[in-house]
Amino acid sequence: MYSEQPGVWDIIEEEINKPTLFRNRESLTPEHTPETLPHRENEIRQLVSAFKHLITSPGSISQRVLIVGGVGTGKTVTARVFGRDFPRKVKMKTGIDVRYAHVNCHRNRTLHNVVADIAKQLDVPLPTRGLSVKEMYDAILGYLEDNDVYAIVTLDEFHYFASIAGSDAVYFIVRTYDAMDTGIKRLNFIFISLDTQKLSLLDPTTESYLLRHMIKLNPYTSDQLYDILKYRAQEAFYEGVVDDEVLRFIAEYEGVDRNGGGNARHAIEILLLAGDIAESEGSGKIALEHVRKAIMKTSREIITVAESILYSPLHELIVLWAIIKLLRRTGKPFVKMGDVEREYEMLCELLSEQPRKHTQVYEYVMNLKKAGIIDARTSGKGTRGRTTLISIHYGPLDLFDKYIEDLIYKRMKVSRK
Ligand SMILES: Nc1ncnc2c1ncn2[C@@H]1O[C@H](COP(=O)(O)OP(=O)(O)O)[C@@H](O)[C@H]1O
Ligand SMILES: [Mg+2]
Repeated sequence: MYSEQPGVWDIIEEEINKPTLFRNRESLTPEHTPETLPHRENEIRQLVSAFKHLITSPGSISQRVLIVGGVGTGKTVTARVFGRDFPRKVKMKTGIDVRYAHVNCHRNRTLHNVVADIAKQLDVPLPTRGLSVKEMYDAILGYLEDNDVYAIVTLDEFHYFASIAGSDAVYFIVRTYDAMDTGIKRLNFIFISLDTQKLSLLDPTTESYLLRHMIKLNPYTSDQLYDILKYRAQEAFYEGVVDDEVLRFIAEYEGVDRNGGGNARHAIEILLLAGDIAESEGSGKIALEHVRKAIMKTSREIITVAESILYSPLHELIVLWAIIKLLRRTGKPFVKMGDVEREYEMLCELLSEQPRKHTQVYEYVMNLKKAGIIDARTSGKGTRGRTTLISIHYGPLDLFDKYIEDLIYKRMKVSRK
């Protein structure tokens, strides 16, 4: 009977009512600007101090600040949060109208597009007929003057602009305004760049001009990423969906102190993806295994790993196998060296192999670490006695387990022929 099958109507109903892990999934997407930024307090302070003249002596100078830092260090979001809140504060304190424009130079690759976007974001009315760059610029300045408005303009991905738009365009953006005799200075700039190298292509005066006020953002450490993830997870997920262990795991994978990229974008991406995976599997919580899958999806590491162990000696593979099996069985983020050795000995028995001595096993572990296949570190205070803690950050471990098993059996067959 057809009626036994769920109708489309029921399917829709079921899907809509399916429990979700996300309170606000959108808050983990790159477009979202969070309320606050853990570990960027100092940088925001520096921005405030650089633009304080807008409160104390508006119009006295035209400020330029350069923000530099690697991908995912929070350059864009720091500028945006400042640009959202600082004008509000100035308005409250002084009544002065400060407007913020955030222009992405990657999207607007020509001087013309950049200036047009600045005008649009500052609400400067422009005629629909095509204006030249100079005409638009004059229209912006005229508008600011007539309406007693001050502006902070951020040029994001400015290194990109510097490398493709040409030095005249850069000169126009960076220095024209200062060369003009405008009386009251209404236009202020924040430049954002990946590094200072690309800017050295500019002529030396323009370069030194840009470098005068520099705020450098460093890659995040694991502890910092943990705080950021904790905060962002609270916004995004319902209570009880993500354990600290999971956040710590992602933070340690990405932290610069653990040889990660220190990239908050990557860490948040992993968290979002792990949430999607957990949800699609119908799990009520995010487990380490969901994170491993997410990491694998966002990186090519497993392929690299497959290459690096191709020439590992048989017993190094057995040690790795022991690590994987233990991590799977315990569901913990890391396992202890002593437990790995016991597991290794059991596997040797299973394979009828003579186990290697402790020092040799330890060396295998260190080799695997050097090859980037595992993470290994000495336990800190808190654990009784010191031991080596071993972890694997990609996965999924079940696939990896199978892969290593096959490799070991193949290797043994060859060596016993
Ligand atoms: N300190 C922080 N607190 C909360 N979220 C952050 C922080 N730093 C970066 N993020 C988030 O990480 C992602 C990358 O930051 P972004 O500013 O785009 O980096 P960049 O511009 O340096 O490449 C964004 O989603 C941003 O909201
Ligand atoms: Mg950015």
